Amino acid sequence: MTVVKHNILNDIAVIEISNPPVNAISAAVRIELLETVNKLSVEKNIKAIVITAPERTFLAGADIKEFGKDVDAPILSEICDKIENLDKIVVASLHGTPLGGGLEVAMSAHYRIAAPKTKVGLPEVLLGILPGAGGTQRLPRLCGVSMALDMMLTGKHVPAEEAFANGIIDEIAPNDKTVENGVSYARKLISEGFDVRPTSKITSKVNNLEEIQEIITNAKANALKKYKNLFSPHNIIKSVEEGLNLDFPTAIKNERRLFKECIESPQRQGLIHSFFAERAITKIPELKNGKPSELKKIGIIGGGTMGTGISMAAMNAGFDVIMIEQNQEAIKKAFDKINSTYDRNVNLGRMTTDQKSQIINLFKSDTDMNVLNDRDLIIEAVFENMDVKKEVFIKLNKICNQKCILASNTSYLDVNEIATVVDNPDRVIGLHFFSPANIMKLLEIVVAENTSENTVSTAFMLAKKMRKVPVRSGVCDGFIGNRILSKYLVGTYHMVEDGASPFHIDKVLRKFGCAMGVFQVIDLAGGDIGWATRKRKAPFRHKDDRYVEIADRVCERGWFGQKTSKGYYLYGEGIELFTPNPEIEIICNEERKRVGITPKNFSDQEILDRYIAAMVYEGAKILQEKIAIRPSDIDVVYTNGYGFPKWRGGPMKYADMIGLDKVLANIEKFYQEDKRFWSPPQLLNDLVNNGKNFDSLN
Ligand code: CAA
Repeated sequence: MTVVKHNILNDIAVIEISNPPVNAISAAVRIELLETVNKLSVEKNIKAIVITAPERTFLAGADIKEFGKDVDAPILSEICDKIENLDKIVVASLHGTPLGGGLEVAMSAHYRIAAPKTKVGLPEVLLGILPGAGGTQRLPRLCGVSMALDMMLTGKHVPAEEAFANGIIDEIAPNDKTVENGVSYARKLISEGFDVRPTSKITSKVNNLEEIQEIITNAKANALKKYKNLFSPHNIIKSVEEGLNLDFPTAIKNERRLFKECIESPQRQGLIHSFFAERAITKIPELKNGKPSELKKIGIIGGGTMGTGISMAAMNAGFDVIMIEQNQEAIKKAFDKINSTYDRNVNLGRMTTDQKSQIINLFKSDTDMNVLNDRDLIIEAVFENMDVKKEVFIKLNKICNQKCILASNTSYLDVNEIATVVDNPDRVIGLHFFSPANIMKLLEIVVAENTSENTVSTAFMLAKKMRKVPVRSGVCDGFIGNRILSKYLVGTYHMVEDGASPFHIDKVLRKFGCAMGVFQVIDLAGGDIGWATRKRKAPFRHKDDRYVEIADRVCERGWFGQKTSKGYYLYGEGIELFTPNPEIEIICNEERKRVGITPKNFSDQEILDRYIAAMVYEGAKILQEKIAIRPSDIDVVYTNGYGFPKWRGGPMKYADMIGLDKVLANIEKFYQEDKRFWSPPQLLNDLVNNGKNFDSLN
């Protein structure tokens, strides 16, 4: 299939690239683009070449699927150099999202015109790499080092007007007719006597070396703080700094060398896995035939932390919200929380007062559930107790119209059981938001036995409007995220009782790249929440299950973490965040003594091995039971909701990367100590025995 064609309109050649859906620069595009450029370069009658990609978007970057594979084709960097060195005027006519290699091609053209809604960027950093086709050299020449570094280190998309104001784009087109705009711009350039203008020769923004050095020194200092675990941001800065002191061709070679280092880093594998994993989450059976119903009015039951967070997420997406609370005092408290959150956003310059009042106007509250009769969707966020939830759903069943979707924000409870009290359970679904729900991206969409395809589709549409990352989960205790969390929490307490310090464990996990250690998370969420869950599960615990009581001892003292100023760490004015509570070690020692355990030393590696093994163990069971559709969905849950480092890909990808056989060998070793906790899941055995990994199931 031809992906690059060209037309000749008198003295102007128009190259049209077409590689749907986003015109990624695959090997075929590179081969044909180079051939076309070579062919046109010797056409004497042609004065200008216009590069376009008229479908959905101008080139959205290199074909990410090719990274890490041996691909036999010219590299993009060479093509960009070839384009820049042509002796005919080259115009790139942009629209959509010219990103990464797409913007690099555009920057190697001599002039750029863009449709009004175009957004440009060099987002390679988000994939663990750097712009490897001249981007680290050409972008600073167009917009200056400061803006170029900001764009390359954040990966942000810059709107056309801003790109125009800063020299990245030369002209904003009146509309998005990319071919016509490119041709008329080229014609204008020719008629007005403009000549070729290689970006590499533009030096006005990169000749003040003293000022640039200061910008780079600051960028390096910031990067050490902000991106301390990441590899590619440092290579991006290096490429800019070193390149400015080299002649252009050598700077390009240097960029290539630094690019290759990134390509070979495991972070590239992890981040690119995350990119595709986040795009796979909507590939689920229900969305094939399900039809989303229209949503405008939402009811939220409960004005606690979750209820207020969900209300804000709904209002931010433009939904009309009624919140139900038991009395005026609770309503006032919830409203104050919502109001102060938006005030803070106004004070931080994130929104105007007008925007705030428009959003707040979407909020109503009541103590009478009967006002919910006109709602399209209800999200219940009341106390985590089956009887309480059922009582709410019994009322909703009577009050709400038959089309209204009834959702529970439960984080553990059985959505099938909740659905039994509703006449038509096809409209019952779990929507498990994560706290703070107005900020956290993850939304587990829990599909119960009788949930209809239309209800699931509506939930996914809601997630899209709220800009959440939705992951489908089946029903089980804790769904995907909290079920895995429960497993490794228990495993962590085993380690603590055996001798590991909670603070050592947290340190190892932070070093691994987790946003927080396990005990920091417990303190943040509130120790009382886990305590309630343990009490709920106590009657079902097998008599031979190992149960560590350290967490209960902590809770019995009323130490629930941040909310009580004391937990595993101490909190309060003048106390540095995450200062260990010295009494924790005493409790641990008392408990070890009480159960007759002589504490042993744990190395960093053993702590990490046990943490990963527990996650992979439960992840494999979740897949075996078809609670999660694919391993990469589990990765998305963990990287978006539980602070697992994205650059490690997620727990399942990480297991693949270190070798599933090694993880299984660890589980088998731990199994010798505790046969009930570590009995290896069948799926894991099968994968390893067949020489496969989790990726083979994605
Ligand atoms: N390579 C391969 N496939 C890509 C791709 C790329 N660069 N960009 C997007 N796709 C695929 C997606 O995987 C998705 O495929 P499926 O439909 O099979 O799931 C499809 O294109 C559509 O993508 P989205 O669902 O993300 O569509 P969107 O409209 O929401 O967003 C986009 C479009 C803004 C381009 C977004 O896809 C995106 O940000 N893509 C990545 C852009 C990028 O990072 N470019 C830099 C690449 S690295 C590089 O260029 C290095 C270099 O220096 C040469």
